[in-house]
Amino acid sequence: MRQKRSIPFEITGVDSLGQGVSKLSDKVTFIPKTTVGDTGEAEIMAERKGVVFAKATSFSKFSDHRIKPECIHFDTCPSCHFQHVPYEKEIEFKKESYAKLFRKLPLPEIEVISAPRRFHYRNRIQLHYSLKTKLIGMRDSQTFRITPIPKCIIGEPEVLKEIQRLYENDNWLKEAPRAPIDGHVEIYWIENQLKVSWNKSYSEGGFTQVFAEMNKKLKDVLLSEWKIPAQSDLLDLFGGNGNLSNRLNYSKRLCVDMYRKVPGEDFLNQDLYEENALRNVIKEIAKRKLDVKHLLLDPPRSGLKNLKEWVDALKPETIAYVSCDPHTLARDLMALEGYDLKRAFLIDFFPSTFHFESFIILERKR
Ligand SMILES: C[S@@+](CC[C@H](N)C(=O)[O-])C[C@H]1O[C@@H](n2cnc3c(N)ncnc32)[C@H](O)[C@@H]1O
Repeated sequence: MRQKRSIPFEITGVDSLGQGVSKLSDKVTFIPKTTVGDTGEAEIMAERKGVVFAKATSFSKFSDHRIKPECIHFDTCPSCHFQHVPYEKEIEFKKESYAKLFRKLPLPEIEVISAPRRFHYRNRIQLHYSLKTKLIGMRDSQTFRITPIPKCIIGEPEVLKEIQRLYENDNWLKEAPRAPIDGHVEIYWIENQLKVSWNKSYSEGGFTQVFAEMNKKLKDVLLSEWKIPAQSDLLDLFGGNGNLSNRLNYSKRLCVDMYRKVPGEDFLNQDLYEENALRNVIKEIAKRKLDVKHLLLDPPRSGLKNLKEWVDALKPETIAYVSCDPHTLARDLMALEGYDLKRAFLIDFFPSTFHFESFIILERKR
């Protein structure tokens, strides 16, 4: 049997995944659910590329800012990362990691739009299950271990009620399809209706933002801070059902998405990661006689790796890039030439977790 190995830790920073960072031993150590000022002992879980991933087993001192998590599952659930610190600290850590990722770019002061609450906000939650182990819950992306979370507090009340019902008397075991043996279920509260879908590869009804009030705040910021002159044409890439651009002051728009099939002449179905995507969109722009001067994009976590090609071809005067992964956002913007980063926002769409939306406005240099 593998011997458990312990190391002492002293947390001096928090990384972009919300993990405490200790440099007490000769190898940098990452420990989830710890915060600056915590000290103690941790069990080594894995070692990769000269760094250690560990789990706190005992504390000799707690950080001054540590608080009691609201959720009873916090210590074991892989989905929340920040319930052990006050909300202001969570924002501070997120802001620091955002700034750090952009250290090679001239990022303006990050403007924070915080959330009205930390819990009971998600309109949609995905649980993973295994018919073999008879477990359903949140799945750790590294170990694939499933943690049951019957009393989760992240979802909207109707979502949580359904989660509880699925756990009661093992209802989920009776309702889950017999195959595949490992799967997932999405519980979604939309327009006062509950939708439960098993093993769909994409969200029921297509993508929608998970936190309604934050979605409104993001759209308000776009409308007030992205100064696009009236009567200009707009290209909305990864536009879904047009959520972000619907209220903007454009003359004509082309909204492009692969999964949403929204009827209407300003929508185009196109896989934007496909080899001919740029050529196809340019053809559509010409066909529809658009003069695209402003580009809005809101890709999935993978970002848009060849953004430079799009920008070189379209030469937009301004770009509004909304991103749920600041790593790919920084990568994509780093490649651009001839644009100034004018505004940078941190929009806290996913409180209690390390995730957030970043939104950057760029202008072509004159
Ligand atoms: C973060 S969502 C943003 C959607 C929209 N802007 C909104 O606010 O609702 C990303 C969008 O990218 C779309 N998408 C994912 N992969 C795509 C691909 N390969 N090509 C085009 N669209 C894609 C999804 O359908 C989804 O609507």
